[in-house]
Amino acid sequence: MTSVELYDKTKTLEMRKKLIGQSCRLFFSEDPIKIVRARGQYLYDENGVEYLDCISNVQHVGHCHPLVTKAAAAQMELLNANSRFLHDNIVHYATRLAATLPPKLSVFYFVNSGSEANDLALRLARQHTQNEDVVVLDHAYHGHLTSLIDISPYKFRKLGRQKEWVHVAPLPDTYRGEFRETHPDPAQAYADTVKEVIDQVHSKGRKVAAFFAESLPSVGGQIIMPYGYCSKVAEYVHAVGGVYVADEVQTGFGRVGSHYWAFQLQGEAFCPDIVTMGKPMGNGHPLACVVTTAEIAKAFTDNGVEYFNTFGGNPVSCAVGLAVLDVIEKENLMANALRVGGHLKELLTELQSRHAMMGDVRGVGLFLGFELVKDQTERTPATEEAAHMVKKLRERQICVSTDGPWESVVKFKPPMCFSMVDAERVVGNIDEILAGIETGMAQV
Ligand SMILES: Cc1ncc(COP(=O)(O)O)c(C=O)c1O
Repeated sequence: MTSVELYDKTKTLEMRKKLIGQSCRLFFSEDPIKIVRARGQYLYDENGVEYLDCISNVQHVGHCHPLVTKAAAAQMELLNANSRFLHDNIVHYATRLAATLPPKLSVFYFVNSGSEANDLALRLARQHTQNEDVVVLDHAYHGHLTSLIDISPYKFRKLGRQKEWVHVAPLPDTYRGEFRETHPDPAQAYADTVKEVIDQVHSKGRKVAAFFAESLPSVGGQIIMPYGYCSKVAEYVHAVGGVYVADEVQTGFGRVGSHYWAFQLQGEAFCPDIVTMGKPMGNGHPLACVVTTAEIAKAFTDNGVEYFNTFGGNPVSCAVGLAVLDVIEKENLMANALRVGGHLKELLTELQSRHAMMGDVRGVGLFLGFELVKDQTERTPATEEAAHMVKKLRERQICVSTDGPWESVVKFKPPMCFSMVDAERVVGNIDEILAGIETGMAQV
């Protein structure tokens, strides 16, 4: 076995600063944690200190799950090859994934990252519709490729550039958006804002290829779309010849507990035309995918250009993917997400009665967040307090992070083996930290 020298933390940081691009940031940048091993939902630093991981949605079935690592090692010893060789793993894996999806979504393309998946989805949509434009939700992030920075307001706004083919619709956020929880039909109202955007696109003589949205906007602040929104948007998009792309890179593989895919929360009548998946798919192994309809896939084939992806769907990746599906099933991780996520949400909601700063608690399964506010009436985002919460939890060996346009939403997307005890420990600590903030705002 090859070994690498273990540097002390200061030296690792120093070397990293010298050798790695500084735009590649670390969690807890003021005092990063140096992790040397992990198991389940626990991380261990170089001194053996254990941290509870509330944010690694990639290590979906738990860090270094033995069934996954064994499947990877066994297939690596036997064969790994270019995806142009005929092999059983890719078809077994596609069959298993197809069983979790509506029958209409039946053609798979395997890739290596969520970004590759979304870039391919864009190509499929454009080829099929022969249109160019894309409608996206505000604050969305869909990946780091040039094409995806272009459709990610979260990124392109910072760069101060918006492509003429990209159009932004409001986030359907019923807590701080235009139509809130008291609105009689926020789903219709927000869907109508997409219709308005589509009408504007047409008035400029342009045509919509796709509406892109995460099934639960995560960077946008752990938003739960109002029920019925997606079906209505799909109706508007289809009416102008476009397709609906559901980005499930963060939300798929049972995280929401009640369903395998977060788009299924919108009811059986709703089915996207293209779904992209990634992060949790390989439990840390780079594995991602696009699934679409036979019709869209045919249009892509008919352009005569081969789609070749060297690593996408290789035998090792598919063996890993199959093992992840097995663990989700064998360990009843969806039921666990419902039970533990439900308990965590309940405990966080209880904190609302004691802490005026707990503005909103939202989420489903193990996709949860709470939003800190300075006041309940104006709902002014409590950005510094949220950063303080992250820092204080880290001092108590609990890793969380923030999201949302004002970084005021503390989010939970832990490995799916998160336990009731973990949930209680986290909320007990949040309770104490909030009390500390309230009694001494100067400390914030
Ligand atoms: C919703 C969503 N889509 C796509 C991506 C891009 O995935 P990757 O980083 O694997 O390229 C991300 C990454 O954070 C994401 O959150």
